[in-house]
Amino acid sequence: MDATAPRRQEPQRGHWRREKCTSLPLPTGQAKREIQRPRPVHSTQLTLLLYHISSEHNNNNNNNNSTMKVLVLGATGFIGLPVALTLSRAGHVVYGTTRDAKAARKLLAQNEIHPLLVTLATERGDSVWGKIASEVDVVIDTIRSFDAEGPLKSFRLVEALATRGGPAQKITYIYTGSVAEDAPWRWDVEKEILASDKVNGIVIRPGVLYGRSGATLEPFLLAPAYDAGKAGTEFETIGYPETRLSLIHQDDLAELFLRVAERGPLLKGQAFTAANAQSERWVDILDAVQRVSGAKGYRLRAPSPDMPVEQTWATAANLRPSLALSLTGWVPRKPGLVDGIESYWVAFVAHYEGRKTIAAWELPGVTRPRT
Ligand SMILES: NC(=O)c1ccc[n+]([C@@H]2O[C@H](COP(=O)([O-])OP(=O)(O)OC[C@H]3O[C@@H](n4cnc5c(N)ncnc54)[C@H](OP(=O)(O)O)[C@@H]3O)[C@@H](O)[C@H]2O)c1
Repeated sequence: MDATAPRRQEPQRGHWRREKCTSLPLPTGQAKREIQRPRPVHSTQLTLLLYHISSEHNNNNNNNNSTMKVLVLGATGFIGLPVALTLSRAGHVVYGTTRDAKAARKLLAQNEIHPLLVTLATERGDSVWGKIASEVDVVIDTIRSFDAEGPLKSFRLVEALATRGGPAQKITYIYTGSVAEDAPWRWDVEKEILASDKVNGIVIRPGVLYGRSGATLEPFLLAPAYDAGKAGTEFETIGYPETRLSLIHQDDLAELFLRVAERGPLLKGQAFTAANAQSERWVDILDAVQRVSGAKGYRLRAPSPDMPVEQTWATAANLRPSLALSLTGWVPRKPGLVDGIESYWVAFVAHYEGRKTIAAWELPGVTRPRT
């Protein structure tokens, strides 16, 4: 740390970023310019700045001066929950929205996430989460939506709040996009967020997620394989022999959200791909799942021409997450899906069987009622 750097006064929202940046050994005035008018991230100086901050974070992540307040929209989701937990574990104060009172208590409050029990896009709901959004450093939207209306409404609400403070105090807004191309409305959302001059707008586009309950892999692969394993039959799935998937474990994705959130002002306007460095062959995944599930075999069928989601699934994807590595030092650490299939299968089965409702008459000694 540079001992000659000016000392900070009382902490303000976003202060930690100013502290870290002004303390860098850059000529006076130069560091200030970096903060007040962010420049394109490909400048050598900014890359050095990012590496400097990255190593500071890794070596000293229990420094209370770096605590942020973060609001996660959709904090109970497959993406939102690990993101909220990872941010909390890194020392940040985390708020999370849900519409479900039980999830608010069991998934959020019991895990030290402040629950906001709200329905978005309602007058009451928006006034509750909007008030918290006006007080935080970072808002992360992980809500599942099916058109541009919901995400844009949330984003514009935060933009409207973002009038106070100087450039270094802008709210960072991270939107969860997707690398899948079956939902063109996402580009409209991303374009508006990335172009914002009121917030630090950033997009993270995950590949196909895996881990725990399996997310999208459940309907396409894991559940049919489980049922076929129990019945001793084959299962059917969509794809071609040449299909490849670009995958990312939910915990590695959460780590990227953390790194991006902590560097918000430096990453404004960037869209990150979140995927493992290597894609995996669909048939390798199918062979591995057939083995652990005990299914007799599998049949590949071509995607239906009128189902964009099936077309996307069967399209070979090969992504390179190099921007996330060079700007945040992010490297996925979880084993790939095939390499870690034994652990991932056990986790999936525990979730899947736990969710299945057991009819009373399936219990020992109970007779099925006559209808
Ligand atoms: N999963 C993947 O493989 C994957 C890959 C790439 C991109 N994505 C994208 O990432 C986003 C999140 O995915 P996910 O898998 O985490 O979704 P998810 O598990 O279905 O979670 C969705 C979250 O959104 C909330 N939500 C859903 N509808 C809502 C509504 N009408 N109002 C308020 N909250 C609502 C849910 O909260 P409640 O507790 O209120 O129900 C839940 O917390 C989606 O846009 C998805 O397309 C997902």
